Amino acid sequence: MGKSCLIAQISDPHIKAGGRLSYRKVDTANALRQAIQTLNQLMPRPDLVLISGDLVDFGHPDEYATFKQILVDLALPVYLIPGNHDDRHHLRAAFPEHNYLFQDTHYLQWVIDDYPVRLVGLDSSVPGKPYGELSEESLRWLDETLAEQPQTPTLVMLHHHPFISGIDHMDRQPLKQPHALAEVINKHAQVERVLCGHVHRTIQAQFGNTLAISCPGVSHYVSLDLTPDGPSRFQLEPPGYLLHQWSAEAGMVTHQGFIKQYPGPYPFYDANGLID
Ligand SMILES: [Fe+2]
Repeated sequence: MGKSCLIAQISDPHIKAGGRLSYRKVDTANALRQAIQTLNQLMPRPDLVLISGDLVDFGHPDEYATFKQILVDLALPVYLIPGNHDDRHHLRAAFPEHNYLFQDTHYLQWVIDDYPVRLVGLDSSVPGKPYGELSEESLRWLDETLAEQPQTPTLVMLHHHPFISGIDHMDRQPLKQPHALAEVINKHAQVERVLCGHVHRTIQAQFGNTLAISCPGVSHYVSLDLTPDGPSRFQLEPPGYLLHQWSAEAGMVTHQGFIKQYPGPYPFYDANGLID
């Protein structure tokens, strides 16, 4: 077996402080605790965990304190990017030991070279706005960063979906100018995936010459409503995570897992063969 890397991704924990429920309905703190328990027990053990933004619900310092308190139980290295519900300054202030968050002085954009898969985090957050944007400066940085290692399989992660999801109210707050990002990504064939959150459900779409995947919610989902002008609503569907498994033999393969326990596993076969 050659080189390999197992990367878990969760998204949109939307943590609130003081035991408050998100939208007065969702116990997001408990949902994150359960997700962490699931990730800690995965076998084989992931090399790291990515969290693709909306770490807290309103960007408040006490929310980051609660988020950090819960995250302490995660027994795996973790890397964070901000979403539209986050606040750059409060996030940095809460995680001074996360050195990678300080690679740039303004944006929470970073590159990690410690694994067989190269990880690039982008900061698409726009203070006070639900939609996402990448500045010309960030796109230039991305282009230069990707040019450094054209042979290393790479995951690029940002919060906002850079594709049209078909969920109307979310498509009014996507990544603006996704073509500018696609143009950069297309210059670098080593980009295996563009990963995002924001839509709180698993969606796969072609993005330039690569595949974009959004991560399921760790607590609540955006309702699967493809009707034009569908209302902005959420749904308590089974929370999940993504597992991106890369090996030199197979390349990048992405799985979805669920956090809640379901009956099983059961065998297909017994001593007489396939069970009838
Ligand atoms: Fe979110």
